[in-house]
Amino acid sequence: MAQDSLSILVTGGTGLIGQALIPALEGSGHRISVLTRHPDRYPSTRNHPDLFSSLENIPDSHPVDAVINLAGAPIAGMRWSKQRKQVLRDSRIQLTRNLVRWMAVRQPPVSVIISGSAVGYYGNRDDCMIGESEPPGEDFGARLCRDWENELLALENLDIRVVIIRTGLVLSRFGGMLTPMIPIYKTGLGARIGSGKQWMSWIHIDDQVKAICHLLHNPSSSGAYNLTAPVPVHNTQFSDTLARVLNRPRLFAFPAPILKLALGEAAGLLLDGQRVIPDRLQEEEFQFCFRNLEEALTHIASP
Ligand SMILES: NC(=O)c1ccc[n+]([C@@H]2O[C@H](COP(=O)([O-])OP(=O)(O)OC[C@H]3O[C@@H](n4cnc5c(N)ncnc54)[C@H](OP(=O)(O)O)[C@@H]3O)[C@@H](O)[C@H]2O)c1
Repeated sequence: MAQDSLSILVTGGTGLIGQALIPALEGSGHRISVLTRHPDRYPSTRNHPDLFSSLENIPDSHPVDAVINLAGAPIAGMRWSKQRKQVLRDSRIQLTRNLVRWMAVRQPPVSVIISGSAVGYYGNRDDCMIGESEPPGEDFGARLCRDWENELLALENLDIRVVIIRTGLVLSRFGGMLTPMIPIYKTGLGARIGSGKQWMSWIHIDDQVKAICHLLHNPSSSGAYNLTAPVPVHNTQFSDTLARVLNRPRLFAFPAPILKLALGEAAGLLLDGQRVIPDRLQEEEFQFCFRNLEEALTHIASP
């Protein structure tokens, strides 16, 4: 179906998801602008987007029909010191607050915002299946997501469609969680983490991009959506599947106490989990390219 060409502002457009999403949006005929702290470092592409280092630099005459808000400092891989927690919060909550204030007075008005969040919203959960109506958790990651989402409430009484994407673990060959894992698994040192019973709600990058495009183009989509494949797996199954796809054994278990010692509270990202189901995408008959983890990992690991 032909789509109207939109002028779309993307924050975090330089990141893993943004760099996959922008070519797809351009391919659909949309005009892209990127809000980035480092316009000079933007990779040179054929259709170079308009780059802005602050919202104030966007001229009133520059059209913005839609906003896709993906900015946020990396949450994994380092300890959450008090300072780091502040960076994680400011880069999401403060940035979104500024964006929302800018949108509230923008003329002509922006018609839709798709704004980031994560399945960490639900906190550490047991085996129950988690649809979008489940309440938020109480740990740092959950409060971060909840407060990030709540910034959008200021748009409630304006005629702006608000979509929140609670994204799962994005699987891509170009970055994200698989980047450190694949080389380790290739040497045969792949390991399940802790008990291996924690749930991993994953999504292939192609489906992440496809889902954002679906939510952008479907005028009746609004509110929170889980962006995860329909079949989450336990960490043991994830580890065994990755090892099998790479033709290596998975012999080890990485002890939880060592992770906790190294990462402190941030170890929860690896040791905890939630069994998230994309109820609302499925209700809207969204067709996933990758429902099966082995097929997703095989696609990513193939040369
Ligand atoms: N990838 C995943 O598995 C996953 C899972 C769940 C949720 N998410 C969320 O989805 C969003 C996009 O994910 P992603 O993987 O594409 O992220 P990413 O690769 O880490 O990129 C995020 C972008 O945020 C901007 N950024 C980084 N630090 C910042 C700071 N201190 N202040 C302001 N902006 C900063 C950067 O843009 P500039 O350098 O251009 O300013 C960066 O390109 C993130 O908010 C992430 O938390 C991702």
